[in-house]
Amino acid sequence: MNRGYFITFEGGDGSGKSTQIRILMDRLRESGYDVVLTREPGGTEISEKIREIILDPANSDMDDMTEALLYAAARAQLVSQLIKPALEEGKVVICDRFVDSSIAYQGFGRGLGDAVGVINTYAVDGCMPDLTILLKLDPARGSSRIAGREHDRIEQASDGFHRKVYEGYLELEAKYPERILGIDASGTIEEIAEEIARRVGAIMK
Ligand code: TMP
Repeated sequence: MNRGYFITFEGGDGSGKSTQIRILMDRLRESGYDVVLTREPGGTEISEKIREIILDPANSDMDDMTEALLYAAARAQLVSQLIKPALEEGKVVICDRFVDSSIAYQGFGRGLGDAVGVINTYAVDGCMPDLTILLKLDPARGSSRIAGREHDRIEQASDGFHRKVYEGYLELEAKYPERILGIDASGTIEEIAEEIARRVGAIMK
């Protein structure tokens, strides 16, 4: 089958995803893989416009279902325009967040439940990650790590919301153990990077 490899990174705000994504991408490129890096919400011109609407702190009265549908809309565009074509060309796609973020943040955090999975069935159109790396960090530690920077609309949500998101991620990890690799994100950058490299290496062989 002429298909690449699809890796997603997940975790709460402040869990250190961006750093680990960059390290893994560099390692895979050094090993000769053709890697495409993208992010959610965003990654295409249309999806980045949707991102601005979703994360703008001025949109404080956004309805929860509107939020879930906008994330799904940004995702549908990214899947069809970038992820599917890249996988068909045999590339490795690394995506900073994907559908599990919607299940955790909108399904568990906002309390929208199963509706989020249903909406996203259409958005991902069968294109699910081969591997999801979940960086697990207590939300209180995550929020203290991002304390110094400006917060977007989702980061501004309450501690209770972020705790529900975290619990949602743990449920997803238990539900899909063959796809989701949970990693303790409280260690050093090097320790976490080693663990990711080891697990990705073993799976991609
Ligand atoms: P980022 O800070 O990792 O770029 O993600 C933007 C914010 O959007 C982050 O707080 C998580 C949130 N988010 C959702 O609530 N649902 C989603 O489906 C995605 C992709 C992100």
